[in-house]
Parts: sequence; C-alpha cells; structure tokens
Amino acid sequence: MIEGNFIVLEGVDGAGTTTHTKDLGDYFRGRGLPVHTTREPSDGPIGVLVRQMIQGRVVVPGIHGTRAPHWTTMALMFAADRVDHVDAEIRPNLMDGVNVICDRYDYSSVAYQSIRSGESEEAIPWLKRINSHALRPDLTVVLDVPAEVAAERRRQRSGVKELYDDAEFQEKLTDFYATMENRFESENIVHVNGNRPRKEVALEIQKHIRSLRKEL
Ligand SMILES: Nc1ncnc2c1ncn2[C@@H]1O[C@H](COP(=O)(O)OP(=O)(O)O)[C@@H](O)[C@H]1O
Ligand SMILES: [Mg+2]
Repeated sequence: MIEGNFIVLEGVDGAGTTTHTKDLGDYFRGRGLPVHTTREPSDGPIGVLVRQMIQGRVVVPGIHGTRAPHWTTMALMFAADRVDHVDAEIRPNLMDGVNVICDRYDYSSVAYQSIRSGESEEAIPWLKRINSHALRPDLTVVLDVPAEVAAERRRQRSGVKELYDDAEFQEKLTDFYATMENRFESENIVHVNGNRPRKEVALEIQKHIRSLRKEL
C-alpha cells in the first residue's frame, strides 16, 4: 500500500519549479515530516543520458552536421527515464511512508514534445500512452509566470544554451501550461501565480499541500 503523498511541480523554464521543490522540501522537514525531493530528468542512468541529450552532448549525425535527436526519440527517452525513476526511487519512498516532491513529471513530456512535434494533435495521445505506467501524483502544482518574466529569469541565470532554450518555444509552453488540466482530466491540478515574491508563492503552495492531508 502506498502511504506517502506524491506531489509534482510544473511550469515553463524559469517558472520556479526547482526553487519551490526545494522550499517545499524545507517546509516538510521543518514540520518533521518525511520527504524526498527529486527531479526529472532523474539522476538515474537514463536521466543522466537525457540531460546530455538536452545539453547537446548526444547528437544525431545529419548531412548538414550534427543535430538534436528527433522529438520521438526524446519522448521515449523521457518516458523510459520516468518508469525507471518511479520504479527505483519514487514508489519505494512512497511505500516507506515518505512524501515525494518531484520537479517536473510527464506533463513536461506532453508539453515539450507535443510542441516539438509541430503541435500535432496526434502527438498528445501517443505521449500519454507511452507514459501510461507513470504513477499519478496526488497533487500537481503548476506555477504560472508570464513568458517575459520567465525569459528574464532564464537570462539572469544564463549558462549554456540548451535544446529548449528558445523564446518562441517557451511562449508556446506558457500557453500549454495555462490550460494544462484540459489535457489531464480527473487529476488534482492547481495553478499558483508564480510571479510574486518567493515566500508568498511558497505559502500558497503549502496551503494546497495542507488540503491533501490534515497532518501536512
Ligand atoms: N517568486 C519566485 N519564485 C521562484 N523563483 C523566483 C521567484 N522570483 C525570482 N525567482 C528566481 O527565478 C529563478 C527560478 O529558477 P528555477 O527555480 O530554477 O526555475 P525553473 O526550475 O522553473 O526553471 C531563480 O533564479 C529564482 O531565484
Ligand atoms: Mg529547474
């Protein structure tokens, strides 16, 4: 029997999912509650490879030079990493009574890869099917941030350019996340305005967490 709660944070790059995964982990620890924070791509063997693909270190030899792998390859790699992540890390923790907070999950796969597919409507059912073994979260928090704010935050952190680091792509992602629950009916999805001081955002996320179980 699964006992811990499984919580996912989602949003565009720069929405604050990594920041708020950490802050929410601190909230649980502060209350003496068992918690494990994790992320996707995971830190498992497939996740490490996926990160290398995103960073341009694993490429396809095209006729005009190397290029990023096809979106279908990426989708299957993300899905493989996810089932491994659930099997090796998420489910064992939940079964031990540990709450799990995950920075991104299969919503990101559906969002990113469906846009990479050229926004083909057929892509979404396929993406959902290849993730059909992914354990469903008890709560998914979508951090909403205007595209310009997320872009400014990404600029501040700079670093190497990654596969999905493109303004037009990120604007499409913003639109996808704004109505994400329409693609995941019957799931517990809430939106939180992430364009506010970090502490305020954290408090609102905690309020949603407490609605899951009174001891949280
Ligand atoms: N209210 C806020 N919540 C979260 N992050 C914020 C906020 N305001 C500014 N930031 C900054 O925005 C960036 C968000 O980064 P991160 O959490 O890595 O986003 P993501 O993982 O969604 O790409 C961080 O540099 C963080 O300090
Ligand atoms: Mg992040």
